Amino acid sequence: MLAKVKSVAVVGLECEEVEVETDFGGGRGGLFVIVGLPDKAVEESKERIRLALRSSGLNIPRPKINVNLAPADLQKAGPSYDLPIAVALLVSMDEVSQESVTGSLFVGELAFDGALRHTNGVLSTTIFAKQKGYKKLFVPRVNAKEAVLIDGVEVYAIDSISQLAAHLKGKQTIAPFIKSDDDEFTEEIESQADMAHIKGQEHAKRAIEIAAAGGHNLLMSGPPGSGKTLLARTIPSILPTMAMDEILEVTKIYSVANLLPKEQGLIKLRPFRAPHHTSSSASLVGGGNIPRPGEISLSHRGVLFLDEFPEFPRTVLENLRQPLEDGIITIGRAKTTLTFPARFILVASQNPCPCGYSSDPDRECTCSPSQIIKYAQKISGPILDRIDIHIEVPRVEFEKLTGDQLAEPSKSIRDRVQKARDIQVERFASEPIITNSEMSSEQIKKHCPIDSPTSELLRSAVIQLHLSARAYHRILKLGRTIADLEGVTQIQSAHVAEALQYRPKIGE
Ligand SMILES: Nc1ncnc2c1ncn2[C@@H]1O[C@H](COP(=O)(O)OP(=O)(O)OP(=O)(O)O)[C@@H](O)[C@H]1O
Ligand SMILES: [Mg+2]
Repeated sequence: MLAKVKSVAVVGLECEEVEVETDFGGGRGGLFVIVGLPDKAVEESKERIRLALRSSGLNIPRPKINVNLAPADLQKAGPSYDLPIAVALLVSMDEVSQESVTGSLFVGELAFDGALRHTNGVLSTTIFAKQKGYKKLFVPRVNAKEAVLIDGVEVYAIDSISQLAAHLKGKQTIAPFIKSDDDEFTEEIESQADMAHIKGQEHAKRAIEIAAAGGHNLLMSGPPGSGKTLLARTIPSILPTMAMDEILEVTKIYSVANLLPKEQGLIKLRPFRAPHHTSSSASLVGGGNIPRPGEISLSHRGVLFLDEFPEFPRTVLENLRQPLEDGIITIGRAKTTLTFPARFILVASQNPCPCGYSSDPDRECTCSPSQIIKYAQKISGPILDRIDIHIEVPRVEFEKLTGDQLAEPSKSIRDRVQKARDIQVERFASEPIITNSEMSSEQIKKHCPIDSPTSELLRSAVIQLHLSARAYHRILKLGRTIADLEGVTQIQSAHVAEALQYRPKIGE
């Protein structure tokens, strides 16, 4: 008989409904035909389904098997259609009734022995199920934690196709999966590299604290071995916690990218991604045949660390312009375009010149002036212009490096950052942004009032330093974050004076 079972296609971060239809007959026995733009992985599901059903004691009959995946013009990719096709076949075989599967969604990959394997995009699938009013969602057990994050849809964790068949027949019913509260969260933060072990570099640590608090982009420049990479790697230890809606946004991206750690439903810690400069443009920005999120989307709501910034190909860096401005990345496909979220803090590091020592007072730089200029030009003005904080990271003096004293631990820095972030969340409660760095010029006007001495200080800075309008706004945004770290509502001269220190040395 004709059977109809519902599943989904994950397109970007969203889902589209796919109807799986199966029937027997109309051709030579033993044939198994799938139509509806299946890719290779879907084609191969025939073998997985045949063997999975056989090893579960459910032999497919001999007549020709027809499978249609509708709508016909939507590309079906990946192995997640194994389960809905197998279930539809069970209906066609009269093993289970059509009523038992109507109103439910099925996703999952089958192993030869009939067990269910991890599948990607389950969080997006559950959100879709809720929006479309599906009552039940059947997923592999390893995906259940992820699926159950959204209330309002009954999630069934399936171990094997035979277990599911018994459930659908009403022989041995499976209870809906229940959400469990597990919290290893604080431990995870505590295990990050701690700032207490970094000697000196108070100036750099302060800049990192401001960047983390207000979501500002940061560029560190300094000679080799001065600790730039070390400093960047401690950033996760001071990042503020994510709100639940941020956690869901990030988890959705990791789920679609198939990077959600097994047995873990949520990404609770802010991401910290450090792609190498030899990474391809597609892995950084996202893309591919079936577009997948790239590193910039995997850093969403967290940090994208680009070490040795000038070594990244210029074309790759130019791709950062849109996400740095809008917090999203648009990826072109044959017929349409897709967008992925990409709101991250960019942390970049560089040497001041090819040999690395032009900013070091004690070591001779061996580069020619033209080499230095060429090196500086590797990063375009528009990219530099999107970085709020520019700092020098000098070598640490010997006395500081060899001292036993520990510096301030990350925990207490994180507490300050969290307080400043809480202030921002409250400030922007009715606006579509979360951090000071995202403020538009109107929002700056509204949220960054300054008194007359501060205004006077800014006026003379703009005139003497020939600051652009963008630089002026950048200073106010930074001033706002510095004031938030101090817990004061009015931006004062001291805050603006500190913000002025973080201007780029060139390019303004
Ligand atoms: N302030 C510091 N406190 C403690 N150790 C430090 C400090 N700075 C540097 N180090 C030590 O020096 C090593 C090199 O530092 P790091 O790799 O961060 O330098 P870098 O600035 O990234 O250099 P490069 O420009 O060559 O990439 C670190 O692994 C660490 O052992
Ligand atoms: Mg380094």
